[in-house]
Amino acid sequence: MEVSTSILNVKKEDCIQTFYNLETAKTDYFHIDVMDGEFVPNNTSELMTEYCEYLKSITNVPLDVHLMVKDVISYIKSFMIFEPRNITIHFEAANDKKELLGWLAYIKENNVKAGISIKPNTDIKEILDILPYIHTILVMTVEPGKGGQELMPETIEKIKKLREYIDKNNLDIDIEADGGINLDNVGLLKEAGCNIIVAGTCILKSDNFKETIEKLKA
Ligand code: DX5
Ligand code: ZN
Repeated sequence: MEVSTSILNVKKEDCIQTFYNLETAKTDYFHIDVMDGEFVPNNTSELMTEYCEYLKSITNVPLDVHLMVKDVISYIKSFMIFEPRNITIHFEAANDKKELLGWLAYIKENNVKAGISIKPNTDIKEILDILPYIHTILVMTVEPGKGGQELMPETIEKIKKLREYIDKNNLDIDIEADGGINLDNVGLLKEAGCNIIVAGTCILKSDNFKETIEKLKA
């Protein structure tokens, strides 16, 4: 299991120290939660841009960018400059499949892995036909928009079904879960077939990042 630490709620005053501590604690990725105040009520784009600038100057830990935005193309462009490992866009932000495939192609043309995220209420059958075009499916286990929420257990079934479909069709795709993940429920996600989990609150509120990340990975 790989761990992608969400830096959404990292306090600005000690963010550099926190990023160093998370790198030392061996987080596999930094999860960058970009919100535009339209697709979701919060707006984190300035703060996340600033954090990406710091991160690029102090660490090589890959960036896992999660765009919760309406104007997808302009945010792809503004976060592409940080040379992230992947840029993940929301299925629900597209008007149609053609637009979605165009965004994915644009991300890949720029040598960045492409991901699709689905909200809890989006059924996986909506996206099965685009799986061959992506590297990561980010399954929201909370309603996107803020950290510190409770994991919605009914979303775990979606991960199980996705894992079955991906394995049956020999697709090489990461299944990443995002929202409300902690030491109590991470086992369920592993059983369901997740190979990357996002955690923010569970790690940042713990008094030992390294121990918590190790336990989430185990
Ligand atoms: C929610 C974000 C998640 C969230 C994870 O919209 O996409 O990444 O910040 O934070 P926790 O682990 O606190 O739920
Ligand atoms: Zn996220």
